[in-house]
Amino acid sequence: MPETKDVETNMPGEAADLILPTHQQAASLKSKDLLSIEHLDASEINLILDTAHHFKEISERPIKKVPTLRGKSIINLFFEPSTRTRMSFEIAAKRLSADIQSISASTSSLVKGETFIDTARNIEAMYPDLLVVRHAFPGAAHMLAEICSAGVINAGDGAHEHPTQALLDALTIRDHKGNIENLRVVIFGDIAHSRVARSNIHCLLKLGANVVVAAPPTFMPCNIEELGVEAFDRLEPALEGADVIVALRIQLERGGKLSFPSLREYFNLFGLGRDRLALAKNDAIVMHPGPINRGVEISSEVADGPQSVILDQVSNGLAVRMAVLYLLAGIGPAKNVKTAA
Ligand code: CP
Repeated sequence: MPETKDVETNMPGEAADLILPTHQQAASLKSKDLLSIEHLDASEINLILDTAHHFKEISERPIKKVPTLRGKSIINLFFEPSTRTRMSFEIAAKRLSADIQSISASTSSLVKGETFIDTARNIEAMYPDLLVVRHAFPGAAHMLAEICSAGVINAGDGAHEHPTQALLDALTIRDHKGNIENLRVVIFGDIAHSRVARSNIHCLLKLGANVVVAAPPTFMPCNIEELGVEAFDRLEPALEGADVIVALRIQLERGGKLSFPSLREYFNLFGLGRDRLALAKNDAIVMHPGPINRGVEISSEVADGPQSVILDQVSNGLAVRMAVLYLLAGIGPAKNVKTAA
């Protein structure tokens, strides 16, 4: 392999060695935007997961950077708090050599009365290639996608969808279980207010999993079975035979606090501790999108225990977001991407 140079330091390194199989270089997503999992098909989901799988290796290199998206401009618009999603989009863009700027509601002219749409139109006048948007209102990303020619990525819109979370969850399940088809995946907790639950249900059903949801009646949406899931109002029967368990945070900011008497009572009835975990298969994995509320939906013993893959989810989030940026940045077969033999 010829010696390559790091793009910024010009020091010897591996910066130009992004290797994707030929079929992945030619493939693309059908839309300029990633707004929901509901509107992706299984082949698009698998394309993102396969591309992310190849991108993981870049983060393990001594020089964690490739020039693939050099010259591309990405704006992170985060109008709700975030640690994982915002940071991983920023790091993903930088690892691919794109330029990325992040703004939040509190540091933007929204506090002076500018509307969300006017803010977006002004940002688009600076010619970004991609906009990454988190917003408390369901449909905010769709609205931007309709008025902007830049690609729009939904980083979470209210209780609607969080597509990159579902994709990183699917990649984590695939890594640990080999495939997703026919696995019993239990999603439990505040289903009613959770965009993660909605995106995961769509994603895992499209990939052939048997999806089970468990929640107290006040946290369970009406007619959830119509999505194709099995629903329980207790956690114990749902956990029997589970391969994968996804714990959800109570969305206090979206009305979750009105739905139960106390945090202690919630943990007693619906928290995942060691006793309840023992009802699942011995090799079941435990997932959580974060942020965790220890002692509310999950005990520290389980969150930090041997079956927990919570930090693997975070690492996979980086690879998935690199893949999504790559696939949506419109670079086509990239000059800096080599073809696998
Ligand atoms: N899972 C998730 O979306 O975490 P953040 O809110 O920290 O981005």
